[in-house]
Amino acid sequence: MAFPATRMRRLRSTGLLRAMVRETELSASHLVQPMFVELGTDRTPIAAMPGVERLSISHAVEEAGLAYELGVPAVLLFGVPAEKDEKASGAYDDEGVVALAVRAIKEAHPELVVITDVCLCAYTSHGHCGVVREDATVDNDVSLELLAKAAISHAHAGADAVAPSDMMDGRVGALRAQLDAEGAKDTPIVAYSAKFASAFYGPFREAAGSAPAFGDRRTYQMDPANADEAVREALLDVEEGADVVMVKPALAYLDVIRRVKDATRVPVAAYHVSGEYAMIEAAAAAGYLDRRAAVLEALTSIRRAGADIVITYHAKEVAGWLQ
Ligand code: PBG
Repeated sequence: MAFPATRMRRLRSTGLLRAMVRETELSASHLVQPMFVELGTDRTPIAAMPGVERLSISHAVEEAGLAYELGVPAVLLFGVPAEKDEKASGAYDDEGVVALAVRAIKEAHPELVVITDVCLCAYTSHGHCGVVREDATVDNDVSLELLAKAAISHAHAGADAVAPSDMMDGRVGALRAQLDAEGAKDTPIVAYSAKFASAFYGPFREAAGSAPAFGDRRTYQMDPANADEAVREALLDVEEGADVVMVKPALAYLDVIRRVKDATRVPVAAYHVSGEYAMIEAAAAAGYLDRRAAVLEALTSIRRAGADIVITYHAKEVAGWLQ
């Protein structure tokens, strides 16, 4: 039955009708608020991410509480350490910035889900996500030991989930084994499974001070041209024990989100990354688009593609809009 019997516009005629047949729901309950935490007492603006700041632990506690009050169920913590070294010592220091922040946030807001990013890049002097050998290549298996130590330190501090973002092979299995052996059997792993070597992480690297000092991340992060490989990465992570698999970035990879969801049938997270945030903010500041409409459309599209969870710097604000 085609036109004129069928008129698709009939169900678009009023707001209430449109809402009744809306297929995708965007609500605060799916959102995760990323936060950059550093020692000290300040809030430090991030030039490439207008509206986002690096926060001292007490400011992070306050911001996490505001997000939670607006209905955001989870935060994702990134530590910005005062010092870096070759072995990323700060990443697995039980008194490091993330461990301290987790304890403080959980104490103030026990119900808020606190997820920690597990990686070495913000803690290594060279800015790579793993341990670098003399020939400047990244040593996969040695890095696994340090990543597992980082995850343990976060879990012992009270993290509700750990999220490895390093893209070393075998890290989900390594983390799972170590967590199980060290009293954290119930701590879920949110794996950055299909993490692409993306230009859209630019602003984040300013925020976390984690740009690689030499080379790039293409020997461990994925080639943006590949989707079959992304599905394989996700399936391997599920096999190794991932509880949630992630696709990152989001908007340029909506096809990958859908394929990973269909192939794994496990909860899928998508990360609307720093560059995606910055693009909307810059265009809106220039008056080129309607900021609020653009943000809601972007996040709804990510959900429509198949993401159960959306990690976004807009989380708190969007939760406020949706109230
Ligand atoms: C750490 C990490 C990065 C992001 C999340 N975890 C940066 C990178 O891989 O260079 C990017 C997040 C964003 O851009 O918002 N490996």
